[in-house]
Amino acid sequence: MSSEKNLIENVSEKQTEYINLIAEIMEVRKRGEKPLAYIRTYGCQQNVADSEKIKGMLANAGFGFVDAPDDADFILFNTCAVREHAEDRVFGNVGALKNLKRRHPQILIALCGCMMEQEHIANIIYKSFPFVGLVFGTHSLHHFPELVYNSLVNGKRVFERGNDDSKLYEGLPIKRDGTFKGWLPIMYGCNNFCTYCIVPYVRGRERSREKDLIVEEARDMIKNGYKDITLLGQNVNSYGKTIENGVNFSQLLREIDSIDGDYWLRFMTSHPKDCSMELIDTIANGTHISRHLHLPFQSGSDRILKLMNRHYDRKKYLEIINYAKEKIDGLSLTSDIIVGFPGETYDDFKETLSLIREVEFTSLFTFIYSPRVGTPAAKMDDPIPYSEKSKWFQELLAVQEEIAAKRCASMVGNVEKVLIEDEGKNGILNGRTSGNIIVELDAPTDTIGTFQNVKITNARNWILKGELI
Ligand code: 5AD
Ligand code: SF4
Repeated sequence: MSSEKNLIENVSEKQTEYINLIAEIMEVRKRGEKPLAYIRTYGCQQNVADSEKIKGMLANAGFGFVDAPDDADFILFNTCAVREHAEDRVFGNVGALKNLKRRHPQILIALCGCMMEQEHIANIIYKSFPFVGLVFGTHSLHHFPELVYNSLVNGKRVFERGNDDSKLYEGLPIKRDGTFKGWLPIMYGCNNFCTYCIVPYVRGRERSREKDLIVEEARDMIKNGYKDITLLGQNVNSYGKTIENGVNFSQLLREIDSIDGDYWLRFMTSHPKDCSMELIDTIANGTHISRHLHLPFQSGSDRILKLMNRHYDRKKYLEIINYAKEKIDGLSLTSDIIVGFPGETYDDFKETLSLIREVEFTSLFTFIYSPRVGTPAAKMDDPIPYSEKSKWFQELLAVQEEIAAKRCASMVGNVEKVLIEDEGKNGILNGRTSGNIIVELDAPTDTIGTFQNVKITNARNWILKGELI
């Protein structure tokens, strides 16, 4: 599959025409007043990046943005399908819009994203949520203006689910949420089919963007003051495989890293099966590449890794980790873990605990297994009750808390370069180290968006406290 090369289509011209038509319609409807949009994003950074494109298109059509749906002319939920909990929240929040639509019939309510690529979900929306006017999946993002235009002029409900993975679309405008922290997608889709995961079904096959476009976008972001840039893909380590004579991920990373400026370069997510020693060396020798590796291992048990179709074992994972620890000074490691995969026993789970103890991650994203319709794991025997899995999960959190506290405590006394991000409670500012660890500090608000040298004075669980020096 990965030998198929993707076709690239620039959709800028055609969609700009629709953007202008939407602007004209809204101008008449609002009698010259600015139309407003409320966009809510669930799930991962890929969804956040997609929403930034949607906002770019709406901004070009003259829309402003609001933080609550009440005054909006256009409401859109960009949904996530990765776990049941995320889906339940969407249903609850969409249901709550019924009265708003009754009071203001002219508003357009839209749903998009991973959930909407699933037929059974689209059917529920169609039947039970008649006030939702527009539904489209991840494959339809490239002609979002056309879909909105059709909804506005025809007044009929528009539902679209796509499955064409042969193309990669470029040329859509972006309105980034942050001014100094930004996402930069380098590829879309996933070919891995981990047995628990819905992503390959809802985001389709892997497609890599052209290197030169990515490098140019990174250069623009750096020129425009971005200090923390994260390259995004479901499995960045297989970047380039769908491009004729393409470079690999390490080469791409080195090329971006060679751009002058004061910034950090991050990436996610890596898959251990494709994580090369070349990548570790690239991080170790990088100028701007953050000293952080997010390498999801999902389970410490080889038996479960096989059932998950992950294509590596514990030994291979630890080889990468140990090489990375040896090569990269001050490395911070993070991971994703699933507890309670079908057929997992307490003995398997103990293997996960022992791996966590061995590696000493800075932090973990931990999930209880959630069956996803259409995935192989959803058909596997799953005898352990949820209540039991919850107990294992709590045990995991307790072990990780201890490890994170120890790791953070070992940093007290260090001077760290910190990017100051925002103001938290009581006027305390939050920053982040290169290793992605949060630092709280008392500093003037005009330091937000700048790098500062901070002395770490204290550690509380996985959060550091520090002071400007
Ligand atoms: N149940 C629980 N967690 C899941 N993840 C993906 N699919 C599922 C599922 N069905 C987790 C994995 C992945 C992260 C983004 O979400 O750990 O790395
Ligand atoms: Fe899902 Fe596995 Fe692809 Fe990650 S690599 S998106 S977990 S199928």
